Amino acid sequence: MESALEYHTARALLDWQLEMGASEAILDAPLNRYDVPETRKKPTPVATATPEIVKAAKIDPVLVAKDMAATVRDLDGLRGALAAFEYCDLKRGARNLVLSDGNPAARVMIIGEAPGRDEDRAGKPFVGRAGQLLDKMLAAIDLSRTADLSAQSVYITNILPWRPPQNRDPKPDEIAMLMPFVQRHVEIVAPDVIVLMGNIACQGVLGTRGITRLRGHWQEAFGKPVIPMFHPAYLLRQATAKREAWADLLALKAKLAG
Ligand code: URA
Repeated sequence: MESALEYHTARALLDWQLEMGASEAILDAPLNRYDVPETRKKPTPVATATPEIVKAAKIDPVLVAKDMAATVRDLDGLRGALAAFEYCDLKRGARNLVLSDGNPAARVMIIGEAPGRDEDRAGKPFVGRAGQLLDKMLAAIDLSRTADLSAQSVYITNILPWRPPQNRDPKPDEIAMLMPFVQRHVEIVAPDVIVLMGNIACQGVLGTRGITRLRGHWQEAFGKPVIPMFHPAYLLRQATAKREAWADLLALKAKLAG
């Protein structure tokens, strides 16, 4: 995927040169300008790909992400594309790329927020305390990330594949530049239903927050039914909200049975 990145950088540089008025390609061989007729003596533009030029080229990470995601054909390709995507600074502070866990053939795809410390270490989503609660919640409606049958299994990912420092909330531009990869992820896995865990997942997928209002109400995104639910990390802090979480799990179970 390195070549895809080079392509986008090269294209952005070319666009920038055109904007600056460059109209001639650099020649392969040196040109003796004393031999050139007067009418051809325009200076030939020369550009080197310095970081300043890359910055001045104003590369839009969302567009780069869209182009890269469009070339992805499978989960290995998606991992490769994210590994080659250099525009999200979170990557530099993370130990691992945390892509997914569970069964890619599952009917249910769960989208969380971002890896925490445990997930960053393990390279897998939802393995810490919130993840353990998530497993219990799923088991209550006979779903599991380790099941082989698509009807009994789930596939789990996050909006962000890299841990934000000190588990801070992801910034809007970080969410925006990773959404093309999330969308492609959904297209590849092609689940029947999607569960959005918490506000960040709702922000990324539905473009809105307000989990207390959104939870339990089916909506459509990526052409699929999606249901927002309280994040298990919130349930660890607010045990009283488990009542609503249980109602939402039953709504998920009913949807799968229907
Ligand atoms: N919280 C999330 O949203 N995702 C994880 O992977 C872990 C905790």
